[in-house]
Amino acid sequence: MRITVCRDPEAASALVARRIAAALARDPALVLSLPTGRTPIALYDRLTQAVAEGRVDFARAVTFNLDEFVGIGAAHPGSYRTFMERHLFSRIGIPRRRTHLLDGRARDLAAECARFERAIAGAGGVDLQLLGIGLNGHVGFNEPGPDLMAGTHRMKLTSQTRRANAALFGGDLRQVPREALTMGMGTILRAQRIILLATGWSKARIVRRALEGPVTTWLPASFLQLHGDVEVVLDRDAASRLSPQGPHGPRVTRPRS
Ligand code: GLP
Repeated sequence: MRITVCRDPEAASALVARRIAAALARDPALVLSLPTGRTPIALYDRLTQAVAEGRVDFARAVTFNLDEFVGIGAAHPGSYRTFMERHLFSRIGIPRRRTHLLDGRARDLAAECARFERAIAGAGGVDLQLLGIGLNGHVGFNEPGPDLMAGTHRMKLTSQTRRANAALFGGDLRQVPREALTMGMGTILRAQRIILLATGWSKARIVRRALEGPVTTWLPASFLQLHGDVEVVLDRDAASRLSPQGPHGPRVTRPRS
């Protein structure tokens, strides 16, 4: 695992945007898998700006999203499809047929999960997986528990995760779906390359446990330790609890930007 600590969230987002731009320059038909949440908004703003300035082109890129709520349609204001349209897709001119999200209103949710796995395989697998991290260590909607599902599956959300997503539903917790569909940890770990972006004090504790603690289903992000090509991009606050002499100490880099 490589850990890069940036001055602030803006610098961290700019760095990840540069990584994506470079990957797209190398391979315009890049297959990206994308997260939602507050953290990537500044990154998506940076990418939008880069597209507007002609520095990045998504015309041939393919995207998958990690997860989607169950029981609400794509057009619902709280859906992750709506989030992605607002923060990225509508601003970067990506053909929608190349953007893939799970359908949380599919009649047969198990079949929908299987369809999604086939679509990823059909695209040749994910080249670059971007991730955020939940306060309880979830990635996508893989919640902590006694076991983890490898493939795309249906997941019951914890009350903490539902609270963290309430803003998408006008702050009304009762409106937040109780279940979601999510790529599994196996789906995520099959990506060629993974970048995890985490910013802010609130993530410092879980970042330390995920990077320095044992690999455990009770902290799904800890499984990233098993992947051969992971970069964790943090701001100073999110990195503030990493042990200076910890397992990753020598590999922490601090870019000037
Ligand atoms: C949501 C998403 C995750 C995301 C997490 C963190 O629950 N399903 O993919 O990483 O929240 O969100 P935030 O960036 O708002 O802290």
